[in-house]
Amino acid sequence: MAITSKSIALTFIFLSYTVSCVSSQRETKFLNHGFLEANLLKFGSSKVHPSGLLELTNTSMRQTGRAFHGFPIPFVKPNSSNSISFSTSFVFAITPGLGAPGHGFAFVISPSMDFHGALPSNYLGLFNTSNNGNSLNRILAVEFDTVQAVELNDIDDNHVGIDLNGVVSLESTPAAYFDDKEAKNVSLRLASGDPIRVWIEYDATEMMLNVTLAPLERPKPNSPLLSRKMNLSGILSEEHFVGFSAATGTVTSTHLVLGWSFSIEGKATDFDITKLPSVPTSPPPLSPSPSPPATIKKKSNNTKLIIISALAIGAILILVLASFWIFRRRQRFFTRGAPKFSYQSISSATGGFESSKLLGERNSGSFYKGQLSSTEIIAVKRITCPTRQQKTTLIVEIDAISKLRQRNLVNLLGYCSKGNDIYLVYEYVPNGSLDRFLFSNDRPVLTWSERFCIIKGIASALQYLHSEGQRPLIHGNVKASNVLLDEELNSRLGDYGQGSSTGHVAPELVETGKVTRDTDVYAFGVLMMEIVCGRKAIEPTKPPEEISLVNWVLQGFKKGDLLQRCDARISREELVAREVLLVLKTALLCANRSAEARPVMKKVFQYLDGTESLPLD
Ligand SMILES: *[C@@H]1O[C@H](CO)[C@@H](O)[C@H](O)[C@H]1NC(C)=O
Ligand SMILES: *[C@@H]1O[C@H](CO)[C@@H](O)[C@H](O)[C@H]1NC(C)=O
Ligand SMILES: *[C@@H]1O[C@H](CO)[C@@H](O)[C@H](O)[C@H]1NC(C)=O
Ligand SMILES: *[C@@H]1O[C@H](CO)[C@@H](O)[C@H](O)[C@H]1NC(C)=O
Ligand SMILES: *[C@@H]1O[C@H](CO)[C@@H](O)[C@H](O)[C@H]1NC(C)=O
Ligand SMILES: *[C@@H]1O[C@H](CO)[C@@H](O)[C@H](O)[C@H]1NC(C)=O
Repeated sequence: MAITSKSIALTFIFLSYTVSCVSSQRETKFLNHGFLEANLLKFGSSKVHPSGLLELTNTSMRQTGRAFHGFPIPFVKPNSSNSISFSTSFVFAITPGLGAPGHGFAFVISPSMDFHGALPSNYLGLFNTSNNGNSLNRILAVEFDTVQAVELNDIDDNHVGIDLNGVVSLESTPAAYFDDKEAKNVSLRLASGDPIRVWIEYDATEMMLNVTLAPLERPKPNSPLLSRKMNLSGILSEEHFVGFSAATGTVTSTHLVLGWSFSIEGKATDFDITKLPSVPTSPPPLSPSPSPPATIKKKSNNTKLIIISALAIGAILILVLASFWIFRRRQRFFTRGAPKFSYQSISSATGGFESSKLLGERNSGSFYKGQLSSTEIIAVKRITCPTRQQKTTLIVEIDAISKLRQRNLVNLLGYCSKGNDIYLVYEYVPNGSLDRFLFSNDRPVLTWSERFCIIKGIASALQYLHSEGQRPLIHGNVKASNVLLDEELNSRLGDYGQGSSTGHVAPELVETGKVTRDTDVYAFGVLMMEIVCGRKAIEPTKPPEEISLVNWVLQGFKKGDLLQRCDARISREELVAREVLLVLKTALLCANRSAEARPVMKKVFQYLDGTESLPLD
């Protein structure tokens, strides 16, 4: 937590004082252009700039910043059980640190301002793994999330969601606004650094909650981005606090609020845009500087970690830091290494990076399909490096990674460097990613023997990475969308997806933020369950006992009906019960909450291969 225990203690003393003094006051409306004059209680990393700008977090890692309006708001009329309508509007800006943005912020309505024990990163400083989703929280939040946490069911790394009592959204959608003139949705980048205005309105009679976004200079769109029927009577009690919470993780952003208007009687007052503080323009330099700026030179190891994870061409690229630095020291001016491609050849292979060749696009880069020769098809990932230092770091990593060869890895063929950009050239894997096969209906259903073979392939690739000579590699991002399937449906582990997010998150990873071989084993355990059961790790729409796949499989194991957990789309004649049980039991060992209890990848591979028998049997 970013708050020290001393400041927590002080905060509580101050809080109980304030609350007892003011709770008799009934404030129903306020308008802040900037926050210099505002009645605001700040917690954690939040502070108000001399310009009036409210900064919830800066770009340091794993911070939490919150700010609440100083008086509780009476959300329920005295002697009535119905909650009342409210309307709020605010203007925010998110400026990413070096690399990908993270993690986002939320507008929050909460019965208390005490969030001790809440986690940063994906939990946005509001919840932790034990109280996430608990209906006793009675917290309504609207999240502006810039990192995709697959285990929390995030749809992408740029979405707005309505959250009730937890960070798994009831409903979410990619950030966009409705352009009334053109009558179409226009997408918005939350972490663009540009001010964005939000309107959140709840009509208690209709029981409708609407969330609307637009760039600051535009009028309010006629259509909301999110509109959801919700009965908030059970959630909002007489007095609730309103405010904001933001968090960073290993990826970071500066989260800023420029102004805030609130009302529980009628519409929130409109801003006078000219009175809002402006957002400082200090994004990281986008052109290579002759030498890195002094601030970057002084950055701590932590910041190096940010740079690396942001640039991570994922998977195979995430090196254990320690060994990486040793390697780097030895090879400061590494010149030989990964094969180089000319920009010309890559550009012509991809038709000049034509949009029809775009395979996918994420924070960390864009993927294009290319044809090098009549027989050679490649996938090219373009990464833009803001500084020369980042580029050098990346090239050192590429050189190390290019030496890896294993039949279940997506092989890196080489790279090309031009200006600020680095182009990574991979072999092209034709059948796309495993998640499409498992979770959508647009691909053929995988048979049991195909699934078993895919699982063993991933195990083999992970075992290879973990044991690679003197320098074991951590994948750090094991999940279905990072497994590609070739013509014969063999699995090929890569990282074609979300460079900035991680796969299934082991409990200790949430606490430490540090990927290890053990966190890879955990993620692989969850992935095995997804492959066998044909469903995602977390499915909030299922009955409570089935929401968490790991729990559901564990319950199945305890009741002795593990076979019932198998994907119903696999024909029962085709199932090999012995293999299904072997995989699910191995998966349970891997997904053990305690890192020490998990087997190492070598053992996992032997269990699956049948050369070692399971301790459970
Ligand atoms: C963020 O704020 C903290 C506390 O105010 C400070 O120690 C840290 O250096 C800041 N980080 C950056 C990147 O400015
Ligand atoms: C609410 O109820 C209490 C007792 O039940 C009563 O004393 C009070 O006057 C009522 N307030 C209003 C506004 O009706
Ligand atoms: C989770 O948060 C709740 C409420 O803030 C707190 O009481 C609890 O101790 C936290 N749990 C952990 C494991 O930190
Ligand atoms: C715009 O987006 C909203 C919310 O995602 C959707 O309901 C609506 O149909 C979209 N409108 C158009 C014209 O695409
Ligand atoms: C919410 O949006 C719907 C659909 O546009 C609209 O009919 C309704 O009046 C809106 N409600 C509020 C409270 O803004
Ligand atoms: C809304 O929820 C409250 C409390 O949970 C309940 O008493 C009320 O009947 C609900 N209203 C509707 C229309 O469902």
